[in-house]
Amino acid sequence: MKEIFPGIYQKDDKLYTLNLRSGQRVYGEKLFRLGGKEYREWIPFRSKLAAAIKNGIREVPLRKGMKVLYLGSATGTTVSHISDIVGEDGIIFCVEFSERMMREFLKVASRRPNLVPILGDARKINDYKDTVENVDLVYCDIAQPDATEVLIRNAKKFLNPGGYVMLVVKSRSVDISKSPSEIYKEEIKKLKDAGIDIIDWVKLDPYEKDHAFILGKF
Ligand SMILES: C[S@@+](CC[C@H](N)C(=O)[O-])C[C@H]1O[C@@H](n2cnc3c(N)ncnc32)[C@H](O)[C@@H]1O
Repeated sequence: MKEIFPGIYQKDDKLYTLNLRSGQRVYGEKLFRLGGKEYREWIPFRSKLAAAIKNGIREVPLRKGMKVLYLGSATGTTVSHISDIVGEDGIIFCVEFSERMMREFLKVASRRPNLVPILGDARKINDYKDTVENVDLVYCDIAQPDATEVLIRNAKKFLNPGGYVMLVVKSRSVDISKSPSEIYKEEIKKLKDAGIDIIDWVKLDPYEKDHAFILGKF
């Protein structure tokens, strides 16, 4: 087992995180015991952060004890791996506006004390500003046309100086009349204009068609 980024492991061609809740699966992933530790397989077809790692993103600035604001947590697939990485001393504020998704997500959050579920709209910061603390990273995967603007507004409000942003761009959600490459360029420019330095970005094909993953630093 090789640690390729802090808390992220690779064996053969598969990715893993150390299971924070031994014996428990979150989305049907395989568990793997080695050297007295339990790893959870991280499936790139199910998680865009895993897809970005498989596609060679240069850095994954997640660390033990980090505070994260995650916009669009859905049922918690990717959140659960970030929860493994930041560990018991970290915290992830998880914003999701679908009640159906949130009901499923609560099952995951009830078993992982580092998750704070927030039923709310990532466009309405005022609704959760009293719950969320300042964070080291804002992650945004909401599949909306204004996802980049939503990320920027949340980063300006909650991100510590020098903090990181991770943005999933779903090109078909932004504008179906333009090519994905054109859209990635435009969204990157919006981030730069907001004062975010782009560390790296990768396309997510073949795991997610017409998606890109952008990593930046504020
Ligand atoms: C593509 S899914 C996220 C998948 C998840 N990030 C993962 O990797 O496990 C997008 C989610 O964003 C949620 N969403 C969309 N717009 C939102 C908004 N304005 N505020 C909060 N959640 C939103 C949707 O309900 C959906 O669950």
